[in-house]
Amino acid sequence: MTVLGIESSCDECAVAVVRDGVDILSNTVASQVNAHAPFDGVVPELASRMHTELVLPVYRESLAEAGISSSQVDAVAVTNRPGLAGSLVVGLSFAKGLSMSLGVPFAGVDHILSHLYAVQLETPVEYPYLGVVVSGGHTLIAVVRAPLEAEILGTTIDDACGEAFDKVAKFHGLGYPGGVAIDGLARKGDPRAFRFPAARLHKGDHRYDVSYSGLKTAVVNQLDRFWNREYQKSPENLAASFEQAAIDMIVDRLVLASRDTGIRLVAVGGGVAANTYLRQALFDHDELEVSVPSRELCTDNAAMVAGLGYHVLTTQGPADLGLDVLPRVSGFRRSYP
Ligand code: KG4
Ligand code: ZN
Repeated sequence: MTVLGIESSCDECAVAVVRDGVDILSNTVASQVNAHAPFDGVVPELASRMHTELVLPVYRESLAEAGISSSQVDAVAVTNRPGLAGSLVVGLSFAKGLSMSLGVPFAGVDHILSHLYAVQLETPVEYPYLGVVVSGGHTLIAVVRAPLEAEILGTTIDDACGEAFDKVAKFHGLGYPGGVAIDGLARKGDPRAFRFPAARLHKGDHRYDVSYSGLKTAVVNQLDRFWNREYQKSPENLAASFEQAAIDMIVDRLVLASRDTGIRLVAVGGGVAANTYLRQALFDHDELEVSVPSRELCTDNAAMVAGLGYHVLTTQGPADLGLDVLPRVSGFRRSYP
C-alpha cells in the first residue's frame, strides 16, 4: 500500500510517500525557520498561513521525488493531533480534498505516536522499546508496545525541553533556533561554570516526569545566584551548564524507566535528539541500547505520518470526512492515545 503522508502540526510543512509502512519513497520538508526567526519563536498565525502557501508545491515535489503519479497513491494519512490548531487544519483540509479527488481513503494520525514510530523507518527495532520524544512542543518517555500502542511513563509537567532551550537562547540573545545555538556554544563552554537546579520529581505518579520551568527561571532571571565564581561568566559557559542540567534530567528519568521496566532498548525522536551532549550521554550509557534516527526523521516530517498511517488504515480503517483536529490530547498520561 502506497501511503501519502502530510504533516503540518507546527512549522514544518511536509509531505512524504511511504510504501507498506516502511519503505520511504520520498520525504519532502519545507521549513519555515527563516520566516519565524525574526520573532525568535514560532508565530502560530504565520505558520498556518505559510502552510496554506506551501502544502501544494510540497505535495507536488514529494510525488516527483517518489517518482510516482497521484493515481498511484493508495491512501492519504495526515497528522490531526496534537499541534497548533490553525496549522493542523491546513494539512487536514488538504488531505480531505486529496482523498476525495483521488477517490482513496484517508486516516488521521497522532503526532506523538508518529514520532515514536519514526525509528522503524530506518533501523527497525523490536517491540517493546522505550520511546523518548524531546522537541519544542513535547517531552515524554513511553513504553512502545506496538505501532499504535504506547504507554506514557513520564512527561514534562510544564515546559517542553526544546522550548526551554529556545527561551533561554532568546532571553540571552544566543541565536535562533535556540537548541542549535546552545549546542554550538556549549561545545566550547564549561558545564561546571553555573550550578543550575534540576527538578527531582520522585513522588508516586511523577517518578518519570521532568520539569523545565524552574531551570528556565533560574537561567533567565536568577543567573547570578547560580554562578560558580571560580569560572568566567560567558555565553559558552552558560550554554554548557544549562544544556547539561536540561539533558541530564531526561537521561536520569530514562535510566530509571529502563531499570524499572527491564527494557534496555531506547529510540529517540524530536528535534532535541540532534543535541550533541544528549546523543553522547545516551550512546555512552552502558545500561542502554540506543537508536537515534537521522535528523530528517527526528524532526517533524511526513514519512513518520505515512508510515504510521499505514498501520492506522490497516488496523482501524479509514476516517470519515467529518474528522476534526485536536490541538491537545486529553487523557495523556498512563495510556496513550
Ligand atoms: O521536533 P522539532 O523540529 O519541532 C517540534 O518542536 O515539534 O523540534 C524543534 C526543537 C526546538 O526547540 C529546537 O531548539 C530543538 O528542537 N533543537 C535542539 C537542537 N536542534 C534542535 N535542541 C538542542 N540541541 C540541538 N542540537
Ligand atoms: Zn514534532
